[in-house]
This record gives sequence, structure tokens and C-alpha cells, in this order.
Amino acid sequence: MTEEPIPVSHGVFKIQGNIYTLNLVPGKSVYGEELFLYKDVEYRRWDPRRSKLGAFLIKEKDLPFRYDSVVLYLGAGDGTTVSHLSDILTHGKVFAVEVAKKPYRNLLELSKKRKNIFPVLADARNPENYKDIIGKVDVIYQDIAQRDQVEIFLKNLFLLEEERFALIAVKARSMDVSSPPKEMYRKVEKRLEERHEVISCVDISPWQKDHAIVVIKR
Ligand SMILES: C[S@@+](CC[C@H](N)C(=O)[O-])C[C@H]1O[C@@H](n2cnc3c(N)ncnc32)[C@H](O)[C@@H]1O
Repeated sequence: MTEEPIPVSHGVFKIQGNIYTLNLVPGKSVYGEELFLYKDVEYRRWDPRRSKLGAFLIKEKDLPFRYDSVVLYLGAGDGTTVSHLSDILTHGKVFAVEVAKKPYRNLLELSKKRKNIFPVLADARNPENYKDIIGKVDVIYQDIAQRDQVEIFLKNLFLLEEERFALIAVKARSMDVSSPPKEMYRKVEKRLEERHEVISCVDISPWQKDHAIVVIKR
């Protein structure tokens, strides 16, 4: 298998069957991921077992993120996935909303080295608290494992520019432990279809068990 990086989406490459982004901060790994040097350029492996968006990419090939996109990320955690978006958004930015103080502190540390990350300590249930600092965005991505995850997503969609894409990572078990995950994904799709165009619903198992990512267009 060739070692040459093959572009698959903006700023994303396939190398020997795995997915990588161009490392914005060469020499630094964020969560223990492998670094790969090819012709003096460093790439970071995007681990699909650590990142739902990474798992989605393996199945879906294309992402709606461009090098100059402004992204609203809800449920940023310690910044594992945010760091890969930071690699992609060389001329854009990512507002990383996180409600818990500990991961927020890690995001703050990450943002010192990666200037396109803007951590926001807030509850995504109350977008009116951050709407003025964020303004309208090109893409929304949400990864919040809460029972009301779909309501949180819908509440934030007014921050998305028209005709742009938003993605939600759906954790079936957080919404209902007894129903089969596929039934839950269908329910979420139906709910979103009431007001938006559903572009795809991608089951991201086996990398992320009982999870799917639903993409909508506003
Ligand atoms: C699955 S983890 C995020 C992992 C991260 N997205 C990644 O891929 O690197 C979910 C995060 O959502 C945060 N969260 C939960 N409820 C939230 C809310 N209402 N507003 C903002 N963040 C929330 C949790 O504190 C947790 O850090």
C-alpha cells in the first residue's frame, strides 16, 4: 500500500487506509494519536474510535467543513475532535461550547497553541447566552449525550446560515435504553424532517457503538 497521502475532503487525507489531518502544530500530538511525516509535512491520525466525526468520515468520505469555515461545536469535551477541525480550519475558526469546567480548562490549554479554537463555557440549552459572541456560522456539529440532545440541536439552528449544513451525533441509548438504536435514528430523522432537509443518516458502528450521525441542511 502506498504511503502517499490521498486527499479525501478539505484538509483530510487517507494514508494506508487510515484518516489523517495536516498537523497545525507540528511535533505535538493532542490525545496520543500517531504523527506521520511525509515529505517534511506532518499529519495526525484521526482515530475513529476516539472521535465520532472521524468514524463518520470513514463511511461518508466528504465533510461540509472548508478551510475558511466558521464552526459552532456543541459538546466539545477535551477537544479531541475539535483539534482535527482546528487542523482543517486554517483560515476559519471553531467556537467550542462545553458546559463542564474540567474539559473546558483543557480546551483553554489547547486554544493557547491553536489560535482558531475559541472555547465557550456555556450550556448549549441556552444559545441566547452565546449568540452575540458567535454570530452566524457555516456549520454546526453537536456531540452531546443527553436525553434532550435533539431539542438542544434544534434550539441552536437559528445560528446557522441558510443553505448550510449541521450534523448531530445521536447516542441512541441516551435517549431511550430500551428501543433498538435503528428505531431511535429513524425517530430523530423524522423529527428533524419536520422543518429541515435531512441529507444523510450514517450509522457509525462498529467504531462508535449505538451511534449515528445525522446531517441536515437548513
Ligand atoms: C461525548 S463528550 C464530547 C466528546 C467530543 N465531542 C469529542 O469528540 O472529542 C460530550 C460532552 O458534552 C458535554 N455536554 C453535555 N451536556 C452539555 C450541554 N448541555 N451543553 C454543553 N456541553 C454539554 C459534556 O460535558 C461532554 O464533555
